[in-house]
Amino acid sequence: MTSKPLSPELTKKLIDTAQTLVADDKGLLAMDESNSTCNKRFAALGIAQTEGARRDWRELIVTTPRLRACISGVILYDETIRQQSEDGTPLVEVIAAAKLVIGIKVDIGAKEFAGHPGEKITEGLDDLRDRLAEYARLGARFAKWRAAFSVTEDIPSRACIEANAHALARYAALCQEAGLVPIVEPEVLMDGVHTVERTSEITGDVLQAVFNQFHIQHVMLEGIILKPNMVLPGLSCPRQEALDVVADATVRCLAQVVPAAVPAIAFLSGGQSGELASARLNAMNLQFKSRLPWPLAFSFARAIQQPAMDIWGGKKANVIAAQQALFHRAACNRAARRGEYNAAMEAL
Ligand code: G3H
Repeated sequence: MTSKPLSPELTKKLIDTAQTLVADDKGLLAMDESNSTCNKRFAALGIAQTEGARRDWRELIVTTPRLRACISGVILYDETIRQQSEDGTPLVEVIAAAKLVIGIKVDIGAKEFAGHPGEKITEGLDDLRDRLAEYARLGARFAKWRAAFSVTEDIPSRACIEANAHALARYAALCQEAGLVPIVEPEVLMDGVHTVERTSEITGDVLQAVFNQFHIQHVMLEGIILKPNMVLPGLSCPRQEALDVVADATVRCLAQVVPAAVPAIAFLSGGQSGELASARLNAMNLQFKSRLPWPLAFSFARAIQQPAMDIWGGKKANVIAAQQALFHRAACNRAARRGEYNAAMEAL
């Protein structure tokens, strides 16, 4: 087996970036919704679905006072990394001044998987090497790729799991070659009636396939961050589970399949409320933190942004209140990393 190993300098750079992203009990803020997803969220709140409104929202996020006390880095969408703030300063400069590390979503979305009704394959590999080089020039130090798995009695199929795992490994290897830490996001979706046991089985299968491909394709495990779903019952499952059951199921599942060399696990929120996402992350850290090989962190989008977006509603007059709500969720999640979050924090 021949391969060209990463240089010692590149290896060190990747490890340093990965460690920086999860240092001091901080986490990531995902603000990388595609234009259509961002517009959908705006439409639900009566906010204009324009480039300017998307810019205003993202500028509000990254200018939130003291955000860096709880957030290490932000994941941007292609539009945002090229945008300028209202006063004409490039947003990447605003973000760098806020001392947040810049990340970028580099997949181009989950598309219909040929021959597999109801399943998706994430695309974006074809010109990825060139795009990564450009993003690195624009200031990005890490990247993100999301694969999504719907759940029914019959899916996800082996083919869908293997195809997405293969693509995640190709993405991760290209990122490392370009000096960007790959955030690896295989998401088992919450929509459906599946039980927590079924989510656990599928999450385990998916992660096993991903790490198998990482081994085959020589992805350096110390230079990635894994961004999985928590192990939860489907949203329509009649049996919803208590915090400690979710914490136990999630940690047990991850412990079976995630190598100790992985520097951190940063969960996605997947449509959970902000409070539930914090409470579940807290329960895991409270019960297991001292016994795990990797820190359990967060890389939430909706669970940090949504309450703030509801308050903002597209109005300048609401910016400060929205930033306070955003900071609050970020602070709750930092507390959850320490196992110090509690419901009383929500009353403040
Ligand atoms: O791709 C999805 C984001 O990175 C995480 O979003 O926390 O709303 O699931 P979420």
